[in-house]
Amino acid sequence: MAQDYIKMQALFLLATAMVISCHNSLGASEVFVARGSVAVLPCVMSSSTKHSPAVIWKRTVDGEERTVWRRDKSGLEFRAVGQAPKAYCPHPNFGSSDFSLHIQETREEDAGMYRCEVEGQYPKIIMLHVISVSFTPAVVYEGGWVTLTCSITPDTSDKTTKWELNGSPITSRSSKQTYTINKVSQKDAGTWSCLIGNKQTEANISTSVEVRGILVPKDNSEVVYAQLGSSVTLPCIFSSKLYFSNSTWNRVSKTSNLPDKLPSSFNVSSNPSISPCSSMWVDRSAYIESVQDGDEGTYRCSGAVRADNDLLVKVERNIQLVTAQVLSSHKNGKTTLTCRISSTSQVTNYEWIHVEYGVSDTQIFTSVQNSSSKMLSIPKEKHLGEWVCRFYNKQQLLGNVTYHLQMMSGLEGKQQSTSVNKVALIIGLCFMVLLLVLILLQLYKNHRRRKMILQYPAMETIVHLAANEREFRERVNAREKVQNGACGKNLKSELV
Ligand SMILES: *[C@@H]1O[C@H](CO)[C@@H](O)[C@H](O)[C@H]1NC(C)=O
Ligand SMILES: *[C@@H]1O[C@H](CO)[C@@H](O)[C@H](O)[C@H]1NC(C)=O
Ligand SMILES: *[C@@H]1O[C@H](CO)[C@@H](O)[C@H](O)[C@H]1NC(C)=O
Ligand SMILES: *[C@@H]1O[C@H](CO)[C@@H](O)[C@H](O)[C@H]1NC(C)=O
Ligand SMILES: *[C@@H]1O[C@H](CO)[C@@H](O)[C@H](O)[C@H]1NC(C)=O
Repeated sequence: MAQDYIKMQALFLLATAMVISCHNSLGASEVFVARGSVAVLPCVMSSSTKHSPAVIWKRTVDGEERTVWRRDKSGLEFRAVGQAPKAYCPHPNFGSSDFSLHIQETREEDAGMYRCEVEGQYPKIIMLHVISVSFTPAVVYEGGWVTLTCSITPDTSDKTTKWELNGSPITSRSSKQTYTINKVSQKDAGTWSCLIGNKQTEANISTSVEVRGILVPKDNSEVVYAQLGSSVTLPCIFSSKLYFSNSTWNRVSKTSNLPDKLPSSFNVSSNPSISPCSSMWVDRSAYIESVQDGDEGTYRCSGAVRADNDLLVKVERNIQLVTAQVLSSHKNGKTTLTCRISSTSQVTNYEWIHVEYGVSDTQIFTSVQNSSSKMLSIPKEKHLGEWVCRFYNKQQLLGNVTYHLQMMSGLEGKQQSTSVNKVALIIGLCFMVLLLVLILLQLYKNHRRRKMILQYPAMETIVHLAANEREFRERVNAREKVQNGACGKNLKSELV
């Protein structure tokens, strides 16, 4: 055994010399491995001459050669004393030609030159590079800075470096091993990956960067669409460990520097039960129970975040509220619907959908028009039911507005006609009562007058006693005639 070992050592010395002399042409194979992952140092022989050759894996540490893993001809395996069993050779079986070394949870101290020596074969030299990624400062906040560093142990000039954020390649300035962002935004948050490799291999190592500030929305481009009368939530979610208690909502005025009045049903969710330290985020979204005409515009959510030096940094987001409604107009027996959106800067397409209710309340949607026109002339056969105006930008659906045609025009018409009937009925009744009262009054008056007429002749008899009897009689007759005629006329005129 000892003899064998000396023989092998001699062979190795020779092989090493050969490898060194041929280094420029052959080169050591280079392996890039992410810190913490499993490193596989390849050692595959073209053919296995012996059934069970002796195998030794060695590395040089501080100029001293150490055995990492060894198996002798008898099949006994040896590991380095005091080393955790993290380096092993999984396939040194009979007949196998793969003697690759696996290292678990690779650390920087595992990096360096390795040598695989298989009895009766030329040794293989492998350079293990361990890559890791880190960033400073430890706490990254909106508006602050961050530097990401991809380190490689041992360093080599023969490599390429690439950066990725959330799986998407970063194209600018990305070939350097450090990457600095001077004005951090939420778009810079996520999984940063550093890819280092050469033509043969590539290693990918990632780190997660949280940016303290307002997590949702990510920037000022948020637009929220709401139908008039419906409720809407304006999102504003802060990351934890913030001074969120004095976060505020404002309405940005277009005309003056002072903020506009907030809508009457505007309220802000406050969840005091969530401690800012134990929770990942704090929801300070605003809620408008019923969006009214005039509520459209820009709303601003602001607060402060704590930076690494305990300074407070102000963060804010603008959110645009866009209101939508359907207006109807009737002209020449035709009904036209108009999809009115308070800001159409993003809208490129309007789709009109007719909704009918089938058996057991199933909805049947029919797309009637899909164009850049916001107007729809309602076809005659689809006068009843529900209409939905869906509006899109170039990429996606932005929102929709519903209009109940039946309720808005049909029902309203019915209600109007019934109320008109009621009014007519009441007026008619009043008129009849009035007429009756007038008739009764007149009858009563006539009755009284008749009584009076009977009194008058008596009085006149006394006054005109001196006048001759004939004249008196003529007068009485004439007066009675006139009185009766006038009375009849009077009654007639009053009744008319
Ligand atoms: C690198 O790793 C990240 C995170 O695991 C992954 O999203 C990304 O797709 C990987 N990139 C490549 C090129 O493998
Ligand atoms: C707004 O106020 C109403 C009534 O007080 C309440 O029920 C609702 O939960 C509040 N909404 C939010 C988001 O706080
Ligand atoms: C929150 O309070 C701090 C300290 O009182 C103040 O400096 C900051 O301006 C406040 N932030 C807001 C959004 O009111
Ligand atoms: C209407 O147009 C939008 C945007 O072009 C599209 O996404 C949608 O699928 C269309 N709808 C129909 C029913 O074709
Ligand atoms: C309209 O939007 C609401 C909420 O986004 C959705 O639930 C509903 O299905 C939409 N209706 C139509 C017809 O697209």
